[in-house]
Amino acid sequence: MVVNLDENVIVVSQLGVQYDNKVWGVKDIDVTFKKSELIALVGANGAGKSTFLNALCGLIMPTKGDVFFNKNLINRNTPFHNIGWSKQTHAIDWYLNVFDNVIVSARLAGKNRKDSKIDTLAALDLVGLLEYKDRDVDALSGGQQQRVQIARALVHHPDIMILDEPTTGLDAESSDKLLSHLKEKANKGGLVIVSSHDLNLLDSYCDSVLLLKQGSIVAYESKTKFISRYRDKEILTIKYEGELDKRKLVEIEGVVTINDLKPLVLEIKRNTPIGQIINKLDSLVFVMDINRTSPGLREAYLEVARAKEEG
Ligand SMILES: Nc1ncnc2c1ncn2[C@@H]1O[C@H](COP(=O)(O)OP(=O)(O)OP(=O)(O)O)[C@@H](O)[C@H]1O
Ligand SMILES: [Mg+2]
Repeated sequence: MVVNLDENVIVVSQLGVQYDNKVWGVKDIDVTFKKSELIALVGANGAGKSTFLNALCGLIMPTKGDVFFNKNLINRNTPFHNIGWSKQTHAIDWYLNVFDNVIVSARLAGKNRKDSKIDTLAALDLVGLLEYKDRDVDALSGGQQQRVQIARALVHHPDIMILDEPTTGLDAESSDKLLSHLKEKANKGGLVIVSSHDLNLLDSYCDSVLLLKQGSIVAYESKTKFISRYRDKEILTIKYEGELDKRKLVEIEGVVTINDLKPLVLEIKRNTPIGQIINKLDSLVFVMDINRTSPGLREAYLEVARAKEEG
């Protein structure tokens, strides 16, 4: 159920976070997040994703700049009940059982006892933990603990969800279920920001992409636009038996880049006749399967990251 979010839900102005060791986790971030969007936050390890998300949620104080939610300035004194958040490092109460971990979050968001109970059972059902509701969280698997965190984030039906690598440790089915739940929230007028290294998963669900590098924004645009930077290429995925030498592959005409070696993932120029590539490969290894696809978020991400490195 989505209530009155402004068109511009979150406005970030000149945000900078400097840690005690003088490292700037993020710097000079200016960005506006609009409603009805699922935003993929991507970037290499150490790019500043967690710093940014923690600062957005008010979990760490910015050294510089401001974050506004629905035009209100957020800081430690103004808890915002309409946000669901989960951190990369688990923020759960280790001495409580599963049910209590989740109901606490509903109560903190201001829900009464009866509604909190109903919502807690529904959230546990959504993340597939109903049968574990009485168990201590330290007696759960890593992925199950992650699900507790997610249940805590969504139990009070917030319109805004800010999740730092929520699918780490989740199996494929649970990841898909979570992302489709989040997508639905965005479609109904909410705002969802999700960081992840699983670019194929994000590709299936996100509307926009925000790419961070060394604490700064490198790209923020619709997924379609982000991927279109890549429109002159195609991807060949080849399963094979044997050993391949990268140096031999770069000599093949039409091959632009080698993204992976096993299976072999080649970027080729669009409309390259693949016969010559296959002939060459056949002479080197035993080719079992070939798949030709258009580039997606993952390929575009690698391209943009690479382009920036080259200057
Ligand atoms: N508590 C801290 N004290 C000092 N430096 C920190 C701290 N936390 C993060 N950093 C530094 O800030 C930068 C950004 O880190 P951050 O955790 O935001 O990256 P990230 O994009 O979330 O990476 P990952 O993909 O590994 O989760 C890095 O250079 C990191 O070493
Ligand atoms: Mg992180």
